[in-house]
Amino acid sequence: MNEYVNNAVEHFRALIEEQLARVERMRDAAAPKDFTALPVVTVGIIDGDGIGPIISKQTTRVLEALLKDEIAAGSIVLKPIKGLTIENRLAKGEAVPKDVLAEVKTCDVLLKGPTETPKGGKMESANVTLRRELDLYANVRPVSVPSEGIDWIFYRENTEGEYVLGSRGVEIPGELCMDFKVTTLPGTKRIARAAFEFAKQNGKTNVAIVTKANIMKKTDGIFSELCHEVAADYPGIEAEDWYIDIMTAKLVDPRVRSRFQVFVLPNLYGDIITDEAAQLQGGVGTAGSANIGDQYAMFEAIHGSAPRMIETGRGDYANPSSLLRAASMLLRHIARGDKADILDNALDSVPHDGDTAKGFADRLIAKIEG
Ligand code: IPM
Ligand code: MG
Repeated sequence: MNEYVNNAVEHFRALIEEQLARVERMRDAAAPKDFTALPVVTVGIIDGDGIGPIISKQTTRVLEALLKDEIAAGSIVLKPIKGLTIENRLAKGEAVPKDVLAEVKTCDVLLKGPTETPKGGKMESANVTLRRELDLYANVRPVSVPSEGIDWIFYRENTEGEYVLGSRGVEIPGELCMDFKVTTLPGTKRIARAAFEFAKQNGKTNVAIVTKANIMKKTDGIFSELCHEVAADYPGIEAEDWYIDIMTAKLVDPRVRSRFQVFVLPNLYGDIITDEAAQLQGGVGTAGSANIGDQYAMFEAIHGSAPRMIETGRGDYANPSSLLRAASMLLRHIARGDKADILDNALDSVPHDGDTAKGFADRLIAKIEG
């Protein structure tokens, strides 16, 4: 038993040192990339698994229609990134094979279809690896239900919390298991800054800081404290503390939920509550998701690869709406808000109607070009 304890303590020491090194890297981070100043923006297209290639192909067609002139002029390049498939990842034994990661890093932004996460085993989810390798610290998820007065945006911390060491916990066989949750000061300040900056730029007056700081006293305690510290730079924007348990209840309370505007929260709570929120909008298939860092950004469907649709031969009927919403967020991020408006307008006015992915894209393109 003693040997297990000693190994665990050594493991813990190594984790602390590694995380301190990450803190240093965050403190030394380069200035954020300015997309308005880039002569060429390279958009990497990652198909993913299952229905991924189908919805990715149709979303790419819609983007090609929207960006026709800029693609012809060479100021926007759509670059297919091959090899982020479950087959290749398993064959190489890497969540994101090295050569694929190198290709990814030649891009400025990514549009990514859903990738399958192998169950069990040691392999990490490709999403989690990409978020970490590209330091995509803000997971931004908007949810809107106009008829219910819901217009929310979630700023989920995307690189730390329960995720950063998720596959590297400690086990004393037959006795106990421990996982680790890590909250760093620069990691919290940057997500808080992103949330309050969004609030300021978009005329929002309230930011809900959602934690369980009554129980997770260290990690969530500092998260809330630092959010308030950042809030002090934003007069006129109210910063309100909420606990995650009561917040999950309030999101389904029609009498209070429309008062929420911006949410900022640690990784795992953000993961859970954004599925709840997306369900209120019509399901996880309807929501787009942005993973934003200072140098890279990745835009993806919020749903999975739906292998059952492929197995039962219904793949062609996969709904690309979530990836198209993500594409619209991508366009805004690279300072093509005018094109994002055209896409959003097409998505709002063209009903999906159970069409095939291609049929739906055809009708969207007709609307965009009409
Ligand atoms: C999400 C997903 C991922 C997460 C999975 C696929 C690793 O649920 O993007 O919300 O847990 O973050
Ligand atoms: Mg999730």
